Amino acid sequence: MPLPKAELHVHIEGTLEPELAFALASRNGVRLPYAGTEELRRAYDFSDLQSFLDLYYGLTNALHTVDDFAELAEAYLARAAEQGVRHAEIFFDPQAHTARGVSLGTVVEGLARALDHSEERHGISTRLIMCFLRDLPAASALATLEDAKPYLHRISAVGLDSAEAGHPPSDFREVYAAAEALGLRKVAHAGEEGPPAYIREALDVLGVERIDHGLRAMEDPELVARLVRDRVPLTVCPLSNVRLRAVDTLADHPLPAMMEAGLLVTVNSDDPAYFGGYVGDTFDAVRDTLGLGPERLRELARNSFEASFLDDDEERRARYLAEVEAYAFD
Ligand code: ADE
Ligand code: ZN
Repeated sequence: MPLPKAELHVHIEGTLEPELAFALASRNGVRLPYAGTEELRRAYDFSDLQSFLDLYYGLTNALHTVDDFAELAEAYLARAAEQGVRHAEIFFDPQAHTARGVSLGTVVEGLARALDHSEERHGISTRLIMCFLRDLPAASALATLEDAKPYLHRISAVGLDSAEAGHPPSDFREVYAAAEALGLRKVAHAGEEGPPAYIREALDVLGVERIDHGLRAMEDPELVARLVRDRVPLTVCPLSNVRLRAVDTLADHPLPAMMEAGLLVTVNSDDPAYFGGYVGDTFDAVRDTLGLGPERLRELARNSFEASFLDDDEERRARYLAEVEAYAFD
């Protein structure tokens, strides 16, 4: 039995496996620019975040209908359950779909259909986090938030993703203030490729509660001290950082140093169909390559539930935390 854990950083579009992408493309009469799944997999040789995003947005063209989004989320939940996930806070990128004529309602309705059955089918509680694409204008993010108003009962938080360099959090001050006024919680990708200053901006200007990635905080000791003091969770994605060349190899990943520094770190998959593993695989990889022992792994699992948006269900959080404490490593 795998260690029980929450996954707090997974893009649902990043769970689109090549086989499903081709099946959906064929169903929808969409031509993907690859001869087949083998050729597609060979293209997963990324030089940086942008080279990945180009391919990732290209493959979303396969997704069109409510059924497609339901199937995508159902496939993720089934995989996640096998990997010990008990709670998942799942990102989605509305603008990647609305920009090509797929409505936000189609996306949310499809995802919700799978999420509605997640507890009974997979034993996984869920939340949805709607991300704004930071390489599109802030006005587009505001229009997306407006568009989302009929679906806010399904959405727990807003996030900020896509190409980070040159797109500081402060550009999105207004839309984050509007999201907060609507009762949404707030997270943002920062310090993946962007500088530590973007992490500060996400905290100070957007008022986020969690930082997604936050890797480059390690360049700034004062910032680390602040993140430790304020117990700001960082949703770290080690396999993603290797594949997108934020670190040279997994052995060079600062995860152990981050934990040693006292940061509230969680381990996540980011885009598991592209980066070589789901979250349980990621736990195994950091155990094997970074030498994290059972108590460090337990700490990561504990952190994942503590950092989750389960404030509206503390009883459930306590139950999950008790599962973590009771877990016997073999
Ligand atoms: N969208 C999907 N994966 C992402 C990542 N790792 N960083 C920024 N945006 C993303
Ligand atoms: Zn991400």
